[in-house]
Amino acid sequence: PRKIIIDTDPGQDDAVALLLALASPELEVLGVTTVAGNVPLDLTQLNARIVCQIAGRGDIPVYAGCPAPLSRPLVTAEHVHGKSGLDGILLFEPETPLAEGHAVDFIIETLRREPAGTVTLVPIGPLTNIAHAFQRAPDIVSRVQQIVLMGGAYCEVGNITPAAEFNIYVDPEAAKLVFASGVPLTVLPLDVTHQAVTNRDWIETMRASGPVGRAVAGWTDFFERYDREKYGSEGAPLHDPCAIAWLIRPDLFSGREINVEIETKGEFTLGMTVADWWRVSGRKPNALFIRDIDRDGFFDLLTQRITTLDR
Ligand code: BDR
Ligand code: CA
Repeated sequence: PRKIIIDTDPGQDDAVALLLALASPELEVLGVTTVAGNVPLDLTQLNARIVCQIAGRGDIPVYAGCPAPLSRPLVTAEHVHGKSGLDGILLFEPETPLAEGHAVDFIIETLRREPAGTVTLVPIGPLTNIAHAFQRAPDIVSRVQQIVLMGGAYCEVGNITPAAEFNIYVDPEAAKLVFASGVPLTVLPLDVTHQAVTNRDWIETMRASGPVGRAVAGWTDFFERYDREKYGSEGAPLHDPCAIAWLIRPDLFSGREINVEIETKGEFTLGMTVADWWRVSGRKPNALFIRDIDRDGFFDLLTQRITTLDR
């Protein structure tokens, strides 16, 4: 299996991403690192442990990382995810305590310990922890196999400002550093994740699956409400599970190797991913930027994997 570290700010869609990863034999989750994003750090680390326990994987170490972006105050998204970040189920105190040590140290130590080129980072929140690790330990950058992240937008711009996607907007300086790092990047932007939208049938399939499926249904029920009211859309976009699904089934996606720069100064465009889809800038490609997903294939994969956690 492919070794991954998931860096996350759960978040209902982060939770489904974690479940998908933990249910997939193609992936070995070395650890889960948490960051401030959708809600503050004390909640994201708690939520990540709750999700691991729901998956029956209290053995996965969960680390707490950075409580705030590199150089800006934290922006959160309770308006989308609820006060807890994981509204939609009955929350509980997880049995497994938080792992000792800082998430950034875990990332650095893991990359130094494992053979070079064998560990993939999967950030599905703001990029603060990854940027800190690269700043503190430049020697690890060339040891990363790949970064597969959810973030950014091209045509489907803006879910937190008209120009920017949430994960990039929260810590644009961190994103800039990661996009300039030279590590092979795969980017799953809103253009893709707004195609990965739940429908009633799928939610009911989840609810009928067992306790894990019921948690997924509870989360998507809650998550959906926001998108229905805000955008009039039918269901909820499962942003973060797209990053995990790409690792398992890249054939469900298509995109292009292009140059992507992060706006850190714009008056109206802070945190925008300036994606050179038509290669007009002459700048060197630094990312595989995904634009399309086989929606049905994606939901079939999710159903198949999440129901195995209920068996
Ligand atoms: C991203 O922002 C968060 O609200 C979601 O968890 C996802 O990672 C979507 O813009
Ligand atoms: Ca997230």
